[in-house]
Amino acid sequence: MHLITLKDWSSEDIHQVVERGLDVKSNPQHYAGAIAGRTVALLFQKTSTRTRCAGEIGATQLGGHALYLDWQNTNFGLADLGDEFRVLSSYSDFIVARLLEHTDILRAAEASQVPLMNGCCNRYHPLQALTDLMTLQESFGKLEGLRLTYVGVLNNVANSLIAAGVKVGMHVTCICPEVNAAARDDELYAEATRLGLYEYTKELHPALEKSDAIYTDTWIDMEFFGEPKFAGEKQRRVELFQPYQLNRELLVDLDLKILHCLPAHHGYEIEGALLHDERSLVFTQAENRLHSQKAVMLKLAGALS
Ligand code: CP
Repeated sequence: MHLITLKDWSSEDIHQVVERGLDVKSNPQHYAGAIAGRTVALLFQKTSTRTRCAGEIGATQLGGHALYLDWQNTNFGLADLGDEFRVLSSYSDFIVARLLEHTDILRAAEASQVPLMNGCCNRYHPLQALTDLMTLQESFGKLEGLRLTYVGVLNNVANSLIAAGVKVGMHVTCICPEVNAAARDDELYAEATRLGLYEYTKELHPALEKSDAIYTDTWIDMEFFGEPKFAGEKQRRVELFQPYQLNRELLVDLDLKILHCLPAHHGYEIEGALLHDERSLVFTQAENRLHSQKAVMLKLAGALS
């Protein structure tokens, strides 16, 4: 079993990992030796704080071992991707792969002889979405019937929230002035729409009052943010997205929870002060990456009944 996108997982699998993530958080000692002697290999083509740390520290806390590999200092970028993943999977018990292209995640999963977790690609970020569900379950005590509004670029994070919503009965409204062409998944949007669990709009205000939670993500990938050659694209996006910024004025008097997958660009997609607002779940959400990723490892290890 792999974790490529939540589209592949059943509702039962997802609820099981959400519930187990909450139990891992409450009772970490119960799971201290759960993957003793096993190794999780983490291969990253892009930078990461949360996904890498949750994978490495989570493996240690479960009694296993983590091996971090970066793209530049291995032969993944020089050789046939399938060959390299097949070899890596013959040394390790699980793989977390953060690759730029979803097609490469699919090739990696096909070649891997052990469970592979998609650590974020251009189309999906399932580890993040499982954490988001866990955080909402923890806060609201339920998932079915919740209304989540996502504001920003329709991207891999948004796709994973929509896919999650389909599986747990959560409605997702995407307020997005722009769709990331590489992330676009029309089949997913059609299925979510058919189920009455998805709405796409460019109108900011009507959805907010009906929302239990509001979620945003960066307008431009972190690694491109300060690059001079992307300055023109950054300026275009800032002008397009500025009216969609989450700030205290927009959310004044609204009774909803605030989420962001982090890292955040303060003053762009979100006013920095909102991260510390009493309605914010952002740092709980970030902490939950650890507990949730441990639950995923337990699931893929066959250690959940
Ligand atoms: N949210 C998230 O995936 O964070 P990292 O990029 O730091 O792993």
